[in-house]
Amino acid sequence: MNFEKIYQYNFPTTIRFGTGVINELGDYLIKNKLSNPLIVTDPIVSQLNFFKQIIEDLKKKNISVEVFSGIHKNPVKSDVYKGTEAFDQTKRDSIIGIGGGAALDVARAIVLRVNHREDLFKYDDLIGGDVYVTNDVPHFITVPTTAGTGSEVGRSAIIADNETHQKKILFSPKLLAKIIFADPMLTMELPPFVTAATGMDALTHNMEAFLVNTFHPMCDGIAAEGMSLIHQSLETAVNKPDLESRSKMLIASLMGAVAFQKGLGVVHSLAHPLSSLLDTHHGLANAVNIPYGMEFNIEGFEDKFKKIAKTLELKEETGSAVVNYLFEMNSKINIPHRLRDIGVKEEHIETLSDLALADFAHPNNPKPVSRQNFKDLYTKAL
Ligand SMILES: NC(=O)c1ccc[n+]([C@@H]2O[C@H](COP(=O)([O-])OP(=O)(O)OC[C@H]3O[C@@H](n4cnc5c(N)ncnc54)[C@H](O)[C@@H]3O)[C@@H](O)[C@H]2O)c1
Ligand SMILES: [Fe+2]
Repeated sequence: MNFEKIYQYNFPTTIRFGTGVINELGDYLIKNKLSNPLIVTDPIVSQLNFFKQIIEDLKKKNISVEVFSGIHKNPVKSDVYKGTEAFDQTKRDSIIGIGGGAALDVARAIVLRVNHREDLFKYDDLIGGDVYVTNDVPHFITVPTTAGTGSEVGRSAIIADNETHQKKILFSPKLLAKIIFADPMLTMELPPFVTAATGMDALTHNMEAFLVNTFHPMCDGIAAEGMSLIHQSLETAVNKPDLESRSKMLIASLMGAVAFQKGLGVVHSLAHPLSSLLDTHHGLANAVNIPYGMEFNIEGFEDKFKKIAKTLELKEETGSAVVNYLFEMNSKINIPHRLRDIGVKEEHIETLSDLALADFAHPNNPKPVSRQNFKDLYTKAL
């Protein structure tokens, strides 16, 4: 670290966490004089019992509810435009995102679009678009129903272009939710595959954030504890879920997203192109790539891997023990070890390598990653 430098640390907003906390949502709206929320979710969550219950409870409190659920698995720009039309046409006064990262990202992008009507990708953070986010935004509330992305505490939304499928990041501190209702009960029925894939996304966030080489001891502490909580609970959450494992996973995923304000790394850059090109679930793409990405990172960062190994209670405190742990964890939660098992073919590798090199995550990786490195990593993982 450089003691003559000035650092900036941002921490999230009010988080209400715990069993049954979702029951506070109606009173919160009333207290804040919000009676016309747009609820943004995905088509699957909109059919689940807990979701119907939330809507019913709000209606009982005389809150007018409009649900928008027309979103893609990997959200695209037109989803955001359609959601904004729903907001306008039904004269809403606030936005509540209820769901996994996909639904929460669309909700956040609608929050942006309501009072920012230029082309959505003008606000792309990678081209400095955040400076155009100058107007007020509607009151925004998030309710996570997966334990993975931590998008509920984020300030960015990942939305893809309809045609090119390239993922863009919309970012602004204004896009942070005013309050988060994180209720582990909403994750109790998450299917094993979703639990496994989203859980490995959360582990990747904590581990990559921990490895980013900037001076941020607060986030390092959060990331280390996040990894520890996932170590204690992911296998149980997938194979024999109970309230303890669901609670630990939910808070750990939230912690991962707080920690990754430090940045992410090579694993996310390996993963993003799989979602753009092959529509692979984000968490699954990270899960398969993480052992290979971490193996690439060991050399030169042995001390950090020693700390990770300690956090994961490994007998041998080395980078290769961490890599073995990641492969073993994937086996225990039924995630394949090879990219070929999730639909990647040799002919995809050149395009994937181009997309990975162009991705926003790896510039924060502790060591530089070249196109050849990406190609070698994909080839190894194939
Ligand atoms: N904004 C950010 O900082 C950030 C970070 C990482 C990823 N992301 C984005 O998040 C998205 C992935 O989010 P995700 O991993 O949460 O997956 P997801 O939102 O796609 O959800 C996965 C699946 O689980 C279902 N589901 C959600 N909650 C459920 C529940 N309680 N019970 C049963 N089924 C449920 C969904 O319908 C979906 O089919 C990607 O679009 C990715 O780009 C955003
Ligand atoms: Fe992620």
